Parts: sequence; C-alpha cells; structure tokens
Amino acid sequence: MTLRVKTGNQLNVTERFLARVAELKSRFPEGKQKSALLTILHELQNDNNDWLSIEAMDKVAELLNIKPIEVYEVVSFYTMYNQQPVAKYMFEFCHTGCCMTRGVEDLMDYTCQKLGVKPGETTSDGLFSVKGVECLGACGYAPMLQLGDFYHEFLTPEKMDALIEDCRAGKVELISQV
Ligand code: FES
Repeated sequence: MTLRVKTGNQLNVTERFLARVAELKSRFPEGKQKSALLTILHELQNDNNDWLSIEAMDKVAELLNIKPIEVYEVVSFYTMYNQQPVAKYMFEFCHTGCCMTRGVEDLMDYTCQKLGVKPGETTSDGLFSVKGVECLGACGYAPMLQLGDFYHEFLTPEKMDALIEDCRAGKVELISQV
C-alpha cells in the first residue's frame, strides 16, 4: 500500500491504500473509527521513508472524517512519529527515568557533538539523526537507544563510536527478520 508524498505536495493515493484504510476502519463501530488512526499513521509512515508530512496527515484526517488538528495532536504527542524527513540511521535515545540516571544525556551530547548536530537534527550527509524518545521498556539495560528495529544497550561513548563506524561501513541491520 502506498500513499506517497512527492515534491510539490502532490499526493498519490493508491486503491490498495484506500482499501487498507477501509479495512482498518471496519474494525471499529460507526462513530469510533478514529480508533484506527494510530495504525494508519504507522503504516503510512513506514511507506513514506519514515516520516509524515502535513499533506499526508491532512489526507488521513480526510479519510477518517476527523479534523486535521486531531491528527496533528497525535503525531506530535508520540515520539515514534516523525514530522520531518529522517536519516537512514536514526539514534532514538531513551531519555526517561532509568536512562537519565544512567547518563543518557551525556551520551546524547557526546553523540551530537561527534556528528555535528543537535537533538532532532540530521547530519548534512543524511546518514544520521539523533532524537530523544520516551521509555522504550528496556530500563534494566540503561542507557539505551533504538536504531531501526533493534535496541543497543548499556551504551558508553566507546560503544557509540563503534556503532557509528559500523553504520558508516554499512554493517548495521535495521530491519528484524523475525
Ligand atoms: S527508562 Fe530507558 S528504557 Fe525505560
């Protein structure tokens, strides 16, 4: 299924995507179909290079017959939705409780400094993004980050150096086969 955001804000909505949206909506009673929103946004983001443009969010609002602001609120609340293009390698540092007490802020600063970006930014070569996210449920392995489908745990500056080098060398898997 595809809902592609092209340059010039053109949208190309395929029949397949529309059918998928209709199927997701049908799982909920009339008047409660907004409940399909999170899934639709996830699938849309996956099909759009990992981010959601304003045009894409507006289209979702139209398909669910809700106000665009209702979609914007959800997308801006959950850190797993990206509101701008992201790099191939997006370091999502958990910056909640345990990870904070285990030094994730220093680790993020170290990584940002090394890559020449601030949190929320992407390197000029489009290879790396750095982002702070809420608890990823791996508190016992703090400090940690998510990269693609995988967690990287008990992080240290040395481990970040190695991870960045492995990414640059194309040695890091992003998609789980499970
Ligand atoms: S506090 Fe970092 S994974 Fe839970």
